[in-house]
Amino acid sequence: MFGLKTTLKALLCSALLLASVAAAPAADAPNVGITAEFPNAIEGLTPSLISGESNKLKVTFRNSGKTDLKVNLIIGTISESDDFSNVIRNLTAYRYATTLKADATLILPYTITMDLPSREVGLTLLADITDSTKNHFPMVVYNSTVTFSEPIQSWFDAQLIFLYILIACIFAAIGVFFKDSVAPESKKASKKTPSMTPEERVAAEEKSKILDEDWIPEHHKKSPHATKRR
Ligand SMILES: *[C@@H]1O[C@H](CO)[C@@H](O)[C@H](O)[C@H]1NC(C)=O
Ligand SMILES: *[C@@H]1O[C@H](CO)[C@@H](O)[C@H](O)[C@H]1NC(C)=O
Repeated sequence: MFGLKTTLKALLCSALLLASVAAAPAADAPNVGITAEFPNAIEGLTPSLISGESNKLKVTFRNSGKTDLKVNLIIGTISESDDFSNVIRNLTAYRYATTLKADATLILPYTITMDLPSREVGLTLLADITDSTKNHFPMVVYNSTVTFSEPIQSWFDAQLIFLYILIACIFAAIGVFFKDSVAPESKKASKKTPSMTPEERVAAEEKSKILDEDWIPEHHKKSPHATKRR
């Protein structure tokens, strides 16, 4: 009787233990592959982020499991590149609460906007994923070095645009000068040429006008001077 009770107790215990072991696989990390794609990334080189600008990453989740999951949020930290536990900045957490279906792929955007002087830093991005029983799994999206750089390119663009405007203004000024001073001279000269028939003269004038106006900005062509002369 006593022996049977002990045996039953032992059986019950092992049954409970088995049940808990059987329940454990539910908390196994989901079978999800995650990749982060950086803007303008070059294969084999450390990804580069532009300081102060919106760097839009594309995060791809591949669920190879048989159950639906949920991507709740992505959080991130910037750390010293030689010591990832030394966090310099916390990045904005993005909340998605998007379903990641079984055997499917999901692409989510993640934007990093941060002012940092040009340097190499450690970047860690974690996604919080939950399964059907609301177990949370922090999963690594990215955990490696990136380079922050100053937005040199945009400065260069601004300078180029300024240069173009300056050149356009100089040409416009030259155009106005030539129309006012040189053009009347050549017209007078052609009038004095006796060997030209009136038709030839008109043709020559038309030709010189076309040549003249070729490089003059559109809005100057219809100036009152031009119409008066014709
Ligand atoms: C980042 O956030 C954690 C907790 O959320 C905080 O303890 C830490 O001080 C923050 N670090 C920086 C550099 O802001
Ligand atoms: C990220 O990488 C660093 C250095 O390689 C490592 O110490 C750290 O544990 C990693 N973090 C995660 C969340 O995997």
